[in-house]
Amino acid sequence: MKTADLLARYDGRVPRYTSYPTAPHFSGAVGAQTYEGWLDGLDPTAPLSLYIHVPFCDRLCLYCGCNTSVVRQEAPKRDYAQLLGREISMLADRLGGRAQVSHVHWGGGTPTSLPNDCLTSIMDLIRKRFILRTDAEIAIEIDPTSFTADKCDAIILMGVNRASLGVQDFDPAVQAAIGRMQSFEQTAACADLLRGGGISALNLDLIYGLPLQTIASVTRTAQQALALAAGRIAVFGYAHVPWMKRHQALIAEASLPDTLARFAQLNAIAHVLSQAGGYVPVGLDHYARPDDALAVALQEKSLHRCFQGYTTDAAPALIGIGASSIGSLPQGYAQNETRVPAYAAAINAGKFAIARGVVLTSDDKLRRAVIEKIMCDLDVDLIAMAASFGANPAGLLHDAARLVMFQQDGLVQWNGRRLQVTPAGRPFVRNVAALFDAYLRMDEAAPRHAQAV
Ligand SMILES: C[S@@+](CC[C@H](N)C(=O)[O-])C[C@H]1O[C@@H](n2cnc3c(N)ncnc32)[C@H](O)[C@@H]1O
Ligand code: SF4
Repeated sequence: MKTADLLARYDGRVPRYTSYPTAPHFSGAVGAQTYEGWLDGLDPTAPLSLYIHVPFCDRLCLYCGCNTSVVRQEAPKRDYAQLLGREISMLADRLGGRAQVSHVHWGGGTPTSLPNDCLTSIMDLIRKRFILRTDAEIAIEIDPTSFTADKCDAIILMGVNRASLGVQDFDPAVQAAIGRMQSFEQTAACADLLRGGGISALNLDLIYGLPLQTIASVTRTAQQALALAAGRIAVFGYAHVPWMKRHQALIAEASLPDTLARFAQLNAIAHVLSQAGGYVPVGLDHYARPDDALAVALQEKSLHRCFQGYTTDAAPALIGIGASSIGSLPQGYAQNETRVPAYAAAINAGKFAIARGVVLTSDDKLRRAVIEKIMCDLDVDLIAMAASFGANPAGLLHDAARLVMFQQDGLVQWNGRRLQVTPAGRPFVRNVAALFDAYLRMDEAAPRHAQAV
């Protein structure tokens, strides 16, 4: 089948499956009380993963889909840091201070926009109130244009050992169209600063599908990205959701590449990264050097998917801290109040700020595992998976009947129990996962996700 026909067939709006059920299915039925019960029920010997959200930036990029806003004054940032500290203390009180932490991820927004002493004192508090494993990964997202030597000193003090640098595109015309000026030299200087400080595990983020991007321009960006020699590169398709992110309306829809052009751009970037760079494709949108832990986890089939994308972190509970953060616990998902004032009101009243979430049913848990395997390994044995949950595979096999079309199109191999996404099927892996999403049919009337490719 021709690429254009394939894209027309599979161009539905499907989730990226960083959770299952996905966030639009969270409801107010999960609140602080349910969350406290979940915390009490955690296995005290299992490690925890912490995600800390900082919803502030020094600039607002027009394409941005993150929960953030531009804040320049120091006072609200200090107030927010205090709230993070209170929430961490509340969690430690609830968990009895015995919990081991194997992973801390600072995301945003731009976490380094907090004052340096706030960043270091929050990490000190985590060390004081939890048992931070000596081999813990401590990761932080960085905007290279606002990353200075003093910021670097602060994150070294924090014990950060992985940094993720937002790039998106190096072409000045594209940068002007998306309101994000950032030279290659600035980005390289940021990588050098980090490496000089001993932080050598680096990730880069690129985006395709942005205004004015062409195959030639994204190829140049990917080649420049290679020169930065990061261990991991994420390649996201631009998610244009102006009904959720109003500032994206400043990007004219007519200036966006169409689906066919997006697909060609993705292929061009993938070609540079894998052929010239030797990177291994990981799941939907990541590339890793063959010796990177992410590529090793892929080989060992121990890769996981979380709200931040692909991870080697196997902790059974991810605790979200800060406004809008989402926790993923064995019992379900719990999201904090999205807006800072509502989050602050709850934390200042000594309550967890959970606004919504979802309790996982046994069917959700099974489907979550199937979808995670498809998104990570591109390979799942449905009968074995159902058996590992003590479940009847009938529901999954019923859904798998719709794989026939994917098989005819060369996107999967399917033998009646095991499905394997083919290399040609990788860009459509979300569509394959969506076959097992029991909630998706409810969504069909009102598409709420960005396009599949
Ligand atoms: C929190 S930001 C990264 C750190 C820092 N704030 C920066 O921009 O450099 C996370 C990443 O999400 C991606 N992103 C943001 N909005 C997006 C969108 N609408 N579509 C696809 N990717 C997006 C970008 O690649 C961005 O680097
Ligand atoms: S892309 Fe990064 S710097 Fe730009 S607005 Fe989003 S979070 Fe802030």
